[in-house]
Amino acid sequence: MTAADLYAAALAAAARAHPPFSGLHVGAVIEAEDGSPHAGGNVEFGSYGLTICAERVALVKGVSEGHRRFRRVGVARSDGLPISPCGACRQALADFGLDMTVVYMAPGGLVERSLRDLLPDAFQLDREAAR
Ligand code: THU
Repeated sequence: MTAADLYAAALAAAARAHPPFSGLHVGAVIEAEDGSPHAGGNVEFGSYGLTICAERVALVKGVSEGHRRFRRVGVARSDGLPISPCGACRQALADFGLDMTVVYMAPGGLVERSLRDLLPDAFQLDREAAR
């Protein structure tokens, strides 16, 4: 799957998001080490703070299918405007490897960046515990 294919899959996943309050449909597809794609859309709840972003829905779907290693994650808004993962999602993804590539729509077009670049000096439980 090319980066453009991964983005297209995230765009398709955005159609299945459930954002009754913000109206912003976000989709994400995370690709496990074996190449399997796991798609998610953001899900909002009446108690607003319980909202789950598309990236974390995709991540927990992959993890709950038994995957622990992931290569890439693609993110899209249904309207095709730029979006990149929020800080909370970057931190959650970081538990599964800073080498993961994030594919997203930036103002200048589609970009591929490592999670390491998107979350410098990430908190990592084991590293902190070793201090
Ligand atoms: N959202 C995502 O799903 N992913 C992001 O990276 C940023 C924000 C969702 C959360 C909420 O449902 C809506 O977008 C508006 O913030």
